[in-house]
Amino acid sequence: MDWFRSLLFVPGNREDMLGKVGNLPADALVPDLEDSVPYPEKEHARETVGRVVKTLAQRGQAVIPRINSIDTGLAIDDMAAVVCAEVYGISVGKVESPWDVTQISSALETLEKKSGLAVGHTKLLLWLEGAKAIMLAYEIAKASPRIVAVGFGAEDYTNDMGVQRTETGEEVLFARSRVAVAARAADVLALDTPYVNFRDTEGLQRDAEQGLRLGFKGKFAIHPSQLETINATFSPSPEDVEYARRVIEAFEEAEARGSGATSLDGKMIDVPIVKRARYLLALAETASSRN
Ligand code: COA
Ligand code: MG
Repeated sequence: MDWFRSLLFVPGNREDMLGKVGNLPADALVPDLEDSVPYPEKEHARETVGRVVKTLAQRGQAVIPRINSIDTGLAIDDMAAVVCAEVYGISVGKVESPWDVTQISSALETLEKKSGLAVGHTKLLLWLEGAKAIMLAYEIAKASPRIVAVGFGAEDYTNDMGVQRTETGEEVLFARSRVAVAARAADVLALDTPYVNFRDTEGLQRDAEQGLRLGFKGKFAIHPSQLETINATFSPSPEDVEYARRVIEAFEEAEARGSGATSLDGKMIDVPIVKRARYLLALAETASSRN
């Protein structure tokens, strides 16, 4: 299962930070060429990330560099600098339409052929963070078989809408939910926006739990100190696992007696609840293989 609970951003021009991520518990590493890199540093970042991606991949974490959006004119050179066997995929900022995805995908195909990689090797993780992208979320998420995930970017989204960002987040509730639902409908992973107050662990916890409840399966981190909270929030808890096991047991016993529904602790257990329990156990197994 391609599943990332936590994905750590590292500015692509910060070789000092890129050199320190080796032992961090991030499921994926996202060296950034986009908004954490100032314009005069773009080339330096591209060269640096291109040089370190193989080292970043050594511990088995997925390496997913984030490139500049197609309308900047930087995207093609960004991809050319980083695509290789060790790079799991490319994260694309500010995707606006399925057409953007087609352009990215055909550029990747050319690069893959040039480098002797299988066509389709490079996966896509797309950022939906403008009003237009939110309205086209499902069409974008379905636009290529390379797509494994879509991410919601709250800061760019609220900029585009011309609204204030608040701690409670009602200004992003519709867009955030829409990305989660579009991801599910397109059968790709929904990844939640970074929490920018990186010294506020309780705030992060609340925000990550809200994302989880909306249907996100993981969340971006901007600071190493956020990884533990994010991994814990998006992994099933021991209590959830125990309950899921009991649900499956109760259901199988009922089935053996020829009945489709039963009860456990005063709650009805039937097919969708058993499906959810099995899904949770599969997630728990993947999570424990990462810890
Ligand atoms: N990746 C790797 N290492 C990081 C890191 C990151 N994202 N953020 C911080 N660190 C390191 C620091 O280099 C520092 O290392 P040191 O103790 O060996 O010196 C340590 O973690 C503690 O950092 P701290 O002093 O708490 O933070 P800072 O002021 O150095 O950095 C930010 C704060 C926000 C500038 C930094 O976390 C950052 O650049 N985050 C990523 C931003 C980004 O990519 N945004 C784009 C997506 S929205
Ligand atoms: Mg953004």
